[in-house]
Amino acid sequence: MDLKGKVAVITGGASGIGSATCMKLADEKVKAIAIVDMADQLESYCKETNEKLGSDVLIPFRGDVVDSSFRERVFSEMESRFGVVGLCVPAAGITRDRLAVKVQRDNGSVNLNIYSETDFRRVIDVDLIAPIYWSMRTVASVAMDRSKRNKGEWQPEETTQGAIVMIGSISSAGNRGQISYATAKAGLEGAQATLAKEAIFYGVRCAIIHPGFTDTPMVRAMGERLIHDYILPNTQLRRLIRPTEIAEAICFLLKNSAVSGSLWADAGWHPRA
Ligand SMILES: NC(=O)c1ccc[n+]([C@@H]2O[C@H](COP(=O)([O-])OP(=O)(O)OC[C@H]3O[C@@H](n4cnc5c(N)ncnc54)[C@H](O)[C@@H]3O)[C@@H](O)[C@H]2O)c1
Repeated sequence: MDLKGKVAVITGGASGIGSATCMKLADEKVKAIAIVDMADQLESYCKETNEKLGSDVLIPFRGDVVDSSFRERVFSEMESRFGVVGLCVPAAGITRDRLAVKVQRDNGSVNLNIYSETDFRRVIDVDLIAPIYWSMRTVASVAMDRSKRNKGEWQPEETTQGAIVMIGSISSAGNRGQISYATAKAGLEGAQATLAKEAIFYGVRCAIIHPGFTDTPMVRAMGERLIHDYILPNTQLRRLIRPTEIAEAICFLLKNSAVSGSLWADAGWHPRA
């Protein structure tokens, strides 16, 4: 699928993998990219990047991805200004890492400390429910556009109408200290597989990428010691993956119409059990 002239929505676009994906899509000459992020510096980041690119391709929308009225405003504005939104990479994500169960001894008594439900629900909201809803709204954009053009079921003679790439993680297979994050990322696999089956009715493909540890603020926040002692020795590359490497893989998934499933971009991640 040629990405040139398409309209995209990228959440978490102000940093890391989302930001690198925006730059790749700009290289591919997409018409407009809604950068959705809650970062304070979003507007200035878009302004500076647009100046560098010499075009106003990045359109900033500051807000929380879990907010459904905000989501609707982003899509309505993009549709009215640029037309159907056919590309989506819902990359906004958070971690709230901690061991699932801790037992603490305090003044002779034993206290049970189980992972916070508040943190669990926030991670599920941001990392699982939100990306699914941003993806479904993209399918809806294409479906509504087709309906207005009196088009029914997509036919193979037509070009592909849209593509979505969800961002899973190697943690979807389980990772110590990531009970909420791993649950959310594993859940995305079911959503991707279901949307892939449903959305092709409108000519929209849906794939998922499972990146390994990538050099972004999310991973740097884990601390240099953890990266050095736990992450790097368990990968074949023995370095963090570059965000541009993941962005290139995402672009490949968006462009190549033969792809419908998942891609593990894990740098040869083989931790001990
Ligand atoms: N970095 C890695 O090693 C790695 C590996 C596998 C998967 N991932 C996934 O890739 C995606 C991007 O991660 P990253 O490493 O680039 O992280 P990052 O922290 O660099 O960027 C995440 C962005 O999402 C935004 N964001 C977070 N919560 C938000 C919310 N509720 N509403 C709006 N914006 C919000 C942040 O402001 C930030 O700009 C995430 O889904 C993450 O889980 C990352």
